[in-house]
Amino acid sequence: MFGLFKPAKPHMLTIEGVGEFVVNPKETILTAALRQGVRFPHSCKVGGCATCKCQLKDGKVKELTAAAFILSAEDLQQGYVLGCQSQLKSDAVIRVDSLSDSERAAKLLDGKIVAKESMTHDITKLTIELSAPTDYLPGQYALVATPAITSGPRSYSYATPMKDNKVSFFIRHVPGGEMSGWANESATIGDAVTIDGPHGDFYLRQGEGDILMIAGGSGIAPILAMLEDALQFKTSRNVIFLFGARTQADLCALDQIKQIEQNWSGTFRFIPVLSEEPDGSEWQGQRGFVTELIPEMAANSTQTYMCGPPPMLDAAEAVLNELNLSPDGIFCDRFLDRSSII
Ligand SMILES: Cc1cc2nc3c(=O)[nH]c(=O)nc-3n(C[C@H](O)[C@H](O)[C@H](O)COP(=O)(O)OP(=O)(O)OC[C@H]3O[C@@H](n4cnc5c(N)ncnc54)[C@H](O)[C@@H]3O)c2cc1C
Ligand code: FES
Repeated sequence: MFGLFKPAKPHMLTIEGVGEFVVNPKETILTAALRQGVRFPHSCKVGGCATCKCQLKDGKVKELTAAAFILSAEDLQQGYVLGCQSQLKSDAVIRVDSLSDSERAAKLLDGKIVAKESMTHDITKLTIELSAPTDYLPGQYALVATPAITSGPRSYSYATPMKDNKVSFFIRHVPGGEMSGWANESATIGDAVTIDGPHGDFYLRQGEGDILMIAGGSGIAPILAMLEDALQFKTSRNVIFLFGARTQADLCALDQIKQIEQNWSGTFRFIPVLSEEPDGSEWQGQRGFVTELIPEMAANSTQTYMCGPPPMLDAAEAVLNELNLSPDGIFCDRFLDRSSII
């Protein structure tokens, strides 16, 4: 009778370009990799962000949650799985794009704050000078750590294209949040910061046709980085940029966006949309939720890039799905925080 219950066995995992190690029974690929000191990209650890996606090249895994709703049809077809949700059923070989690509492998770099700028009442821009140059695609993010915060690094999207040894982040003060509280309140010029990056697969894809960009709150950071970068390369694709905020006080980088608009080669429409602007204020622009404008604005777009708080992105994705737009042209970066996970 006891023979029916075979004890689960450890299996060998090979990460292409990185090495091989044992994954214990019940361990996920991500947990085992982190235990080995591999800087496996990850964020939520609960199957909600796809940061840990990796391509299964050989072997079998047991998936703890379905990846179908978070990975694109193309990813699924190519054998991508979520590292944080996959246990090994056999020895396996995987490829992690950012780890296996030596040109753009994540690096851990020391740095110090060289500028601190208030963007709105609750968003601060921190600029950090690094000890060495870094290499990222605008739209990607880094894991940011500082000695003042002992509960581990947090993810922040690069807010500018690559320039010298400097990187910038827009950090919105989350009520009760440790890192965002530090960044907005006590962080000062000269504070030590380490940056582990780049991570993530949110970046502007090659392609033809119009682009729809949707940002909420500090989600504007990677969108600005992508637009500034595309501007340098004189992209002539038409862009509609929807920026969702609560009130006028929550809008930021308006001068910078105006500059981009004026210098853009194709047509560029910037539409800020306010959800809680008081009635009777002098605001002449759009009111409501960005999602209400999507059906009209997405009509000609071949690619949609969305970034910001998960509830806004879930609502936007539902609208895009109803419009039957190909999921292969929809790219999304969810700013999950610990309250979404705990
Ligand atoms: C890929 C990615 C990119 C991101 N980019 C950006 C960006 O560019 N800009 C930006 O502002 N943010 C970004 N974020 C969000 C960012 O990583 C942080 O989650 C955010 O700044 C909050 O961190 P914190 O340390 O201030 O809050 P935390 O201390 O982590 O707390 C977050 C929330 O959880 C609550 N909480 C904490 N501990 C508990 C607990 N034990 N039980 C219940 N609730 C708890 C807190 O009260 C708070 O409301 C990004 C996230 C991801 C995943
Ligand atoms: S870390 Fe695996 S899905 Fe977020």
